[in-house]
Formats: sequence, C-alpha cells, structure tokens
Amino acid sequence: MEKILIETSGVRSEILVGASMETVAGMLPESGVVVVTDENVNRLYGSRFPSFPVLTVTPGEGSKQMDGIEHLAGKLLELGIDRSGFILGIGGGVVCDIAGFLSSIYMRGIRCGYVSSSLLSQVDASTGGKTGVNVGSTKNTLGTIRQPEFVICDPAMLLTLPDEEYLSGLAELIKTAIIGDKELFEIIDRSYKEIMKRDFDLLTLLVTRSVTFKASVVQEDEFENGLRRILNFGHTFGHAIELQELVKHGFAVAAGMELATLFSFEKGLITSEENEGIINMLNKFGLLRKYDISGDRIRQLILHDKKKTGRDINFIFTEGIGKATVLKISIEEITDFYNRFRKNKKYL
Ligand SMILES: NC(=O)c1ccc[n+]([C@@H]2O[C@H](COP(=O)([O-])OP(=O)(O)OC[C@H]3O[C@@H](n4cnc5c(N)ncnc54)[C@H](O)[C@@H]3O)[C@@H](O)[C@H]2O)c1
Repeated sequence: MEKILIETSGVRSEILVGASMETVAGMLPESGVVVVTDENVNRLYGSRFPSFPVLTVTPGEGSKQMDGIEHLAGKLLELGIDRSGFILGIGGGVVCDIAGFLSSIYMRGIRCGYVSSSLLSQVDASTGGKTGVNVGSTKNTLGTIRQPEFVICDPAMLLTLPDEEYLSGLAELIKTAIIGDKELFEIIDRSYKEIMKRDFDLLTLLVTRSVTFKASVVQEDEFENGLRRILNFGHTFGHAIELQELVKHGFAVAAGMELATLFSFEKGLITSEENEGIINMLNKFGLLRKYDISGDRIRQLILHDKKKTGRDINFIFTEGIGKATVLKISIEEITDFYNRFRKNKKYL
C-alpha cells in the first residue's frame, strides 16, 4: 500500500493506494457516519460497506444537480446528522463530487472521506478537493474546494468497472503522464497487456504516480490561480466535445488531448516524435473516436466554458512529454487551428 499526503491550509488529506476498501472501517468515527453511493456500486459492494446508513443516488452525471443535493441534505436531517457528522462517499467521480459538495455545505461543513471506485476517480477526481454539481448542462457551476480527510483507492474494485468506464479513466491517467511524468508515460507505453488485464500491482503503481503528481500540484496551488491549470490539458476542446456529443469525460478529453498535442507541435513546442508518441498511445487504447463538430459550434462551446477570461483562453500546451505550459490564446487562433485540423482530417 502507498500513502500520499496533501497538506493545505492546515488540512491534512491522506490518499491510500492499494489498500482494500475494508480499510475504511478503521478510519471512521464510531457514530454519525452516513455513506453516499450510487446504485451500481451499492449493488456490487454494498455488502462490504461499513455498517452505517446508506443513501443511494442514480448512477451518472444526471445526479449532479442541486435538487439531488437538497434531497440528500433532507435525509441527513432525518437521520439526525449534526455538525459532528461524517459523510463517506463510496463510488466514482460523480459520487465523490456529490458527497464532497454536500459535506462542504451541510451545516456549513462536516467531515468527509472517500472510497474511490472508478479509474477516473482514483487517478484524478477524488484527489485535490474539487467538488461540484452542474447547472443545466454547464458542468460543475456550483462547487467548492475542500480536501477530504482520506481517499482509499482499491485497485481490486476496478475489476468490475465496465470497459468504457475503464478506458475513460485511462485517458486522465495518460493526461497526467503527458503533463507531468515522462516515466509514467513510458510505463504505460510498454504495459498495454497488463493495463488491459487490470493487473493489481501495475494499477497500484499507475494510480500512485498519478495521485503523487496531482497532489504535488494541488499542494502548490490549491485554488487554481496558476500551476493547477495544467491539469486541464485537453479540457478546452474536451469540455466542448463532451457538451456537444454527450460522450464519457475521458473520451472527450482524449480527443481534446489529440488537438492540444497537434497545436503544441504546430507551435514548435514538441518534436514530431513526441507528437507521434502521444497520438499513437491514444490510438493504441482506442481512445480516439470520430466526432463531427463545426468550427463555429466549437467556438460557441469554448466561449461558454467557465475557464475563459474575456476573449482569451488559458490554453494548456505540452512542452515535451512530462511537461506542460499555459499560454493565453485568443478564441480566433483556437478556432483557426481547429478549422485547419478538421479540414485535414475531414472529421474530428
Ligand atoms: N472533482 C474533480 O477534481 C474531478 C476531476 C475529474 C472528473 N470529475 C467528475 O467525475 C465525474 C466522472 O467520474 P466517473 O467517470 O468515475 O463517473 P461515475 O462516477 O459516473 O462512474 C462511472 C460509472 O461506473 C460505475 N462504477 C463506479 N465504480 C464502479 C466499480 N468499481 N464497478 C462497477 N461500476 C462502477 C458508476 O456506477 C457509473 O455508472 C464527472 O462528473 C466529472 O465532472 C471530477
């Protein structure tokens, strides 16, 4: 088991990778705990949950809405949960975002921790303290940044994850490698078979490296005033594609990473070998799907993105595998690049 610590504004958050989900029993208070999970995770793992009341949400992005949060808060009141209560989220990124958000606003904030059960949440979503719900189709419009006390990442839970969900998480893992860990990129590159077999030891290593990198970034810039922006590599185009095509987050980010990589190459920030290496990896894992979105539509969707400042976008480029940089780019330049790319490929 590996332990990674994040210490920010006096708060200590502990991420345990390779620990079994049962480890959580020893990390909870004796009373006042409520488990928040989704129906799939409850069906598969409910019999192994610690014995506390369980609140279940419908799986998927549709549950990240304020009315759902209000409903859960009502249930907490019914259960008599007061300021000394503890919310334990057991699930993927959706459950962690909901459980974290609820715990940060219920009675002005109560304690919380996660058992992270999807690859996407283990490598990315459950580390860093971002929580949130959507307003209409705009993602994470309402949210907070508040570190959970602990996150348990049990790679054995990933064996039951549907293939598409597993691949979606892999995209965020590859993103981490591109922006911050060249050796991780090389390990992923030579471990195709073990990754597809979901080998426990390898997954422990991959999740540990990803969390270690993200933790170091969050520790330095918890509130995303600078460095933390690099974690959005692939997300400018990715969010636009996700909104238009309703594809899983990781596949949209993979498409966004292909564009951001080619854009980096066009700007002379990476070599043709590095460019090919990244695109080949995304292809090898079947992450690049075909979408057909016009330049005008992409422009509209990017302008809608909450991360824009004025007409300029903080766009994340790779500067070689394992390094990223943020440049302010006008929406016109981004749309021009996209139109050129679309013309050459005939599709996105
Ligand atoms: N807070 C952050 O920093 C952050 C970062 C990235 C993404 N996110 C959010 O994460 C969400 C996506 O996360 P996700 O991909 O984990 O989605 P998810 O939570 O919807 O999980 C995907 C699916 O897998 C199922 N599942 C989860 N664990 C399982 C298991 N062990 N076995 C079988 N099925 C399992 C779920 O029931 C669901 O149907 C998005 O809402 C995104 O905005 C948050």
